[in-house]
Amino acid sequence: MPDAVTDRVGHLNNRLGGRIAFGGDWSPEQWSREVWDEDVRLMREAGVNLVTVSPFGWSALEPQPGVFALDWLGDALDTLSDAGISACLATATASPPAWLARTHPESLPVTADGVRLSPGSRQHYCPNSVAYRAATVALAGALAQRFGDHPALAIWHINNEYGAHVDACYCDVCADAFRVWLTSRYVDITGLNAAWGTTFWSQRYGAFEEVVPPRRAPYIGNPAQQLDFRRFSSDSLLACFAAERNEVRRVTPDIPVTTNFMGLFKPLDYWAWADEEDIVSDDAYPDLDALDPHIGAALANDLMRSLRGGQPWMLMEQAPSAINWRPNNPPKPPGLMRLWSLMAVARGADAVMFFQWRASQRGAEKFHSAMVPHAGPDSRIFREVKALGHDLERLSGLTGEQVPADVCILLSWDAWWGLELDSHPTDRVRMVDQLLAYYRPFWDANVPVDLRPPDADLSAYRLVVAPNLYLVSTAAAERLEAYVEAGGHLVMSFFSGVVDEQECIHPGGLAPALARTFGIRLEEPWPLHVEDSVPLADRDGRTMGTGTLWSESLHVVDAGAVVMFATGDLTGRPAVTRRATGPGEATYLATRPNPELMGTFLGDAAVRAGVTPTLTTPDGVEAVRRGSALFVLNHTQAEVEIDIGARMTSLLDSTEYDGVVRLAPRGVQVLRA
Ligand code: GLA
Ligand code: ZN
Repeated sequence: MPDAVTDRVGHLNNRLGGRIAFGGDWSPEQWSREVWDEDVRLMREAGVNLVTVSPFGWSALEPQPGVFALDWLGDALDTLSDAGISACLATATASPPAWLARTHPESLPVTADGVRLSPGSRQHYCPNSVAYRAATVALAGALAQRFGDHPALAIWHINNEYGAHVDACYCDVCADAFRVWLTSRYVDITGLNAAWGTTFWSQRYGAFEEVVPPRRAPYIGNPAQQLDFRRFSSDSLLACFAAERNEVRRVTPDIPVTTNFMGLFKPLDYWAWADEEDIVSDDAYPDLDALDPHIGAALANDLMRSLRGGQPWMLMEQAPSAINWRPNNPPKPPGLMRLWSLMAVARGADAVMFFQWRASQRGAEKFHSAMVPHAGPDSRIFREVKALGHDLERLSGLTGEQVPADVCILLSWDAWWGLELDSHPTDRVRMVDQLLAYYRPFWDANVPVDLRPPDADLSAYRLVVAPNLYLVSTAAAERLEAYVEAGGHLVMSFFSGVVDEQECIHPGGLAPALARTFGIRLEEPWPLHVEDSVPLADRDGRTMGTGTLWSESLHVVDAGAVVMFATGDLTGRPAVTRRATGPGEATYLATRPNPELMGTFLGDAAVRAGVTPTLTTPDGVEAVRRGSALFVLNHTQAEVEIDIGARMTSLLDSTEYDGVVRLAPRGVQVLRA
């Protein structure tokens, strides 16, 4: 970490006295002063030490253009600091007031179909609107000037969930900004024509003025244009963030800055974003109706820890119980809020926070749960909140601790955007689904995993897994080759290394450095019929399991075929190949093995790479080591017994265990030798 970042993060930690941050979104503008007083009394009772103040307060803070009304916020911050509670102070710019739409209708975003969105909900802004950007910088500046020295101010919360609801705008202002972005990327129109392959379908441009965003068109849009527009849209929102960040940093250079991410969120390249902030923070709303939602949540937690190279991150928002925005919103049953909160701490979070502190009586989110529900403090939810505050207090010693990992999964937003373009062999290969298929076996085996971008230095990892690295630059492919040559173990899935940064197919259909690394030649993609799967056999013809989604016709050039397609058009052809390079090894999967077989492949690959699991636990029970603490988390609804193989003491309740820990359904223990 650069020194300045360390110092700013230190400011937050000092404010919190080294404790884990605990709290939620607090919107005092919705409530009377009497309620504020009750709020801080209950916050203290629950052990709350940090609240995100007024993320949607813009129209109350600036009721007319340029006329700021900050006194109420000053009073609210005084109320907090008098009670010893710190503020994660929002710049409140995510939802512009009605006057901005009236005075600057061009600040409203336009969809790909040309529909200009109306005010009346939230997050209705065009990221390239000059008026919107200027107004956000003015508000952020006014808040920083007024509250920069306030004793409650611990960290800035810029905007809220960039890209939620509107992740790209197709208006004329954005079209102009897109042209500027393209000019700096391609210098002249000849460069753009070459990169976009515009000789195809008569798409050649004579001048940048002719180029438009990929608006609704008769048929499939130019893939390179679509890809560049994704990059441009992520950059445009990042420029909004940077403008506000620069303004608060100019006034308050010692206060750390964050903005809340949304887990595996496709529209924003979070690698680029995380570099621009001091601390990563995330909002986690796993779908309670999904299969094993905790595994997807763990993957998102690991991504957040990885985004700034292992630095502790903040769980900025989660629901204490039900949400309001899926079609069906069951509550979190007893124990689940605690379980998922402590899972985040195990995976590197130094903050456990919620949307929101007190349930709103009016508006679109009145059925969203809150730490203080409509029923008030005499409620299951508030009792669980208080108990969680107590748990987190006991874990104070863990802040700053690391979660070391020997395995890394590659994730590139460029590859994700490219993979999910239209006009592909199948639209059934989806990035998150593929990531989860490769992540799950490591979760099951309690093997910690980091995520890294493909051009990172991977030399610290024993095993690198690349699910659908569809787009890869020649330079990144060569780095992966060098990683294997230097003794690294690499597992890569089908439909990887196919195109370069310009969406141009690599020679031979597989980046040459990767063709050398795996010792294979690809001939023809062979996606399976929907609903079909294909049996797989080992070299002796023994059935091993099935492949799904994909198969392909490939040739081994300098590798061994270790698994074969057992029936169908590719019978006897390689499904999994392996090339050993002295200590290194490169394994290629030409299909997606069924989950059990995937577990076997990746488990064996981990053993060959010298990776050892944290602990062996019963199914559905997670073990994670953070610093000197061992977390064991029971995601099942049965009581379980875990062999920890040593004498350990609970950090949560001081119980001593002699080799065996029993956990209740959804139970957690945090242990130390
Ligand atoms: C997001 C937003 C919050 C709130 C919650 C509801 O995370 O940031 O303002 O709308 O969703 O779940
Ligand atoms: Zn726009």
